[in-house]
Amino acid sequence: MASVNILSKLKNVRKGQNLSVLDIISIENLTLSDLELIFALTRIFKDLVETGGKKCDLLKGKTIVNFFNENSTRTRSSFELAGKHLGADVINVSGSASSGKKGETLGDSARTLDALNADLLIIRDANSGAPFQLASLIQAPLINAGDGWHEHPTQALLEAFTLREKVGKKKLTYLFVGDALHSRVFGSQVRLYQKLGFEIRLAAPATLIPKNVENWGVKVFYKIEDALPGCDAIHAIRLQTERAAGKFVATGREYSKNYCINPARVKLANKNAVILHAGPVIREFDIRTEVLESKQCLVQDMVQNGLPTRMALTWLLITSKLKKTNPWK
Ligand code: MLT
Repeated sequence: MASVNILSKLKNVRKGQNLSVLDIISIENLTLSDLELIFALTRIFKDLVETGGKKCDLLKGKTIVNFFNENSTRTRSSFELAGKHLGADVINVSGSASSGKKGETLGDSARTLDALNADLLIIRDANSGAPFQLASLIQAPLINAGDGWHEHPTQALLEAFTLREKVGKKKLTYLFVGDALHSRVFGSQVRLYQKLGFEIRLAAPATLIPKNVENWGVKVFYKIEDALPGCDAIHAIRLQTERAAGKFVATGREYSKNYCINPARVKLANKNAVILHAGPVIREFDIRTEVLESKQCLVQDMVQNGLPTRMALTWLLITSKLKKTNPWK
């Protein structure tokens, strides 16, 4: 019964619309109408999850493969739960336990999973562009769950949904603080917030600012204190040390002293400015515990919203009327 109700709510909002893309690789390719559809369906799935009706069988009989070749806590468990809440069978394949370790190429591993009739492949990989490359090799739709330094589209989408819920205006002044150069989260946020008409600011040391970032409509600041006045949202990020970010700053201690989000810095922003972080959080280094545990901080809300966001994306792609061509024929 729950499934019948939820399906009719979803269909009412969807009105037969499919996403304009067959895979979700980059925010770049999503239209404003795609974004509105994703946010509207996320709202419905969120209500379902919150009212305790976690499970529905909308995707019963479908198979989803989580193919994660890099560490993950939030994204992987949230995609897994999303598939399970929708009634699909979910398989987890990790890089360290896959045939990649025996020398198989990433493309061949993906083809193998595709040959098992997967209905959706969710991929995380340390190499930027890996999802783009794999998308053309497989018939199943694909979602990029983070590729190298490039993009992490679902992270940006769940954050934008959270901002819509929690901040009373649509066009925000948004400040990203820290290691933008190595951050795929930043890659997706910039593309998304440009589309949504935000003013985007970046405060970071010169060595961690992507080249020509001003051409993406980003205002650059070297001193966080100069960037904060007028901000509605402040996003902190971990120094992406697995991508050698530690070599781009003189010392971690100095970087943290200059860019850690502390209560005094928060006071420089707009009164009700919200605090965001993609996680994992390095307490006292990227953000102070008082800020992390304050009412203004939306980190837990973001994690919670990851589930309905990924349910919406999973459902939209698997039930899309637009199908990819079969690369095997
Ligand atoms: C990511 O996968 O990019 C994260 O969620 C952010 C991080 O690792 O710092």
